Amino acid sequence: MTHSPSDAVTRDYAYYRHIFSGRRLPLAFIDLDLLDANAAQLSQQAQPLPMRLATKSLRCVTVLRYLLKEFPSFSGLMAYSAAEAAFLAEQGFDDLLLGYPTMESSEILPCLDWIRRGRWIAFMVDDVRQVELLEALATRGEPLTIPVCVDLDMSMDLPGLRFGVFRSPIQSIEQAEPLLVALAKAPHLQLQGLMGYEAQLAGIADATPKSGLYNRIIRLLKSWSQRQAFARRQAFASELRQRSYPLRLVNGGGTGSVGRTKRDSSVTELTVGSGLYAPALFDHYKEFHYQPAAGFALSVVRQAGPGIYACAGGGYVASGPTHADKQPEPYLPPGMTLIKTLGSGEVQTSLQSPVPLELGDPVFLRHAKAGELFERFNEVYLVRRGAIEQIVKTYRGEGACFF
Ligand SMILES: Cc1ncc(COP(=O)(O)O)c(C=O)c1O
Repeated sequence: MTHSPSDAVTRDYAYYRHIFSGRRLPLAFIDLDLLDANAAQLSQQAQPLPMRLATKSLRCVTVLRYLLKEFPSFSGLMAYSAAEAAFLAEQGFDDLLLGYPTMESSEILPCLDWIRRGRWIAFMVDDVRQVELLEALATRGEPLTIPVCVDLDMSMDLPGLRFGVFRSPIQSIEQAEPLLVALAKAPHLQLQGLMGYEAQLAGIADATPKSGLYNRIIRLLKSWSQRQAFARRQAFASELRQRSYPLRLVNGGGTGSVGRTKRDSSVTELTVGSGLYAPALFDHYKEFHYQPAAGFALSVVRQAGPGIYACAGGGYVASGPTHADKQPEPYLPPGMTLIKTLGSGEVQTSLQSPVPLELGDPVFLRHAKAGELFERFNEVYLVRRGAIEQIVKTYRGEGACFF
């Protein structure tokens, strides 16, 4: 199958309303035409590098399988917990990079069994204590080699400002020495990967409406930070290669930095997830625009005044600093807004709509983030060309809740 961004069709209220007519609300959906368009656009942007799928941003086994099958540019998964990696191995997936460290022995042990059975599951490390735990657990069963990946912190420190996240304590090869010594003393572990996730490039919008000065500052910080981050990752990777570590991958990026990160010559693969669903937090970047491929529908249950409607459910707030941008984004009909003093509520969400609505009508919203939406729904409607193609389980629907 070939997919191109031109497969995208204009979406309006009537389009989704017709598709979901008669269905129980709330419901969550993925528009497969738009998902395809996003996957094709990401593939173009990432070229020539392969992309690893960030499972936290997708949280649906059917979608993971679909993307890996249909788009050759996707290869391997970045899991977010060891329990999840074992769950995915059980489902038949291979090439699983754990994007975050874990200290849960009960979750690590099943992964070690999968490694013994031939799957590639790599653990993220940035601390001697994580290495020691993995080594101790490795001695409990049949011999094996556990692949590990070092998490290199890519933040930029400026006077009074950390531009980035607090991810790993390692920003240089000198800071990694104790870890490398611990790895040398751990015969069951092998360093096979390096990851440097430049969250400050990938996760900060730089084309926020009505914020001209702010956007200019962010873009300036991004280009400074990019130079520093690339130099840091290149130096670290080349030092590891000189020391003959069998590096299978150097991973970087996220949806927000695909086009930038691929220009770092040390990077062998990118990670992406959010850009496939394109949630609201990814609406305002200068370098790309993806199609809103995931959303949810609520039912209007009362009218509190002229143009003010309450819907059942909807309080699906995203993680992160608790600003208004973590709330769902009213989508269709166009022009709807949340009521500032109420936000999206635990059992009902009030909306102001310029378009008159009837009780029982659906309204459509988008989550601020990508995979988190599916922690609220057991199933998701997959729609294509104006019709429901399939209703499939989310992670939650599979009983797979990892945090
Ligand atoms: C290590 C790592 N890589 C990449 C990503 C980017 O994922 P996404 O494309 O969903 O923004 C994340 C997201 O937090 C991450 O933690």
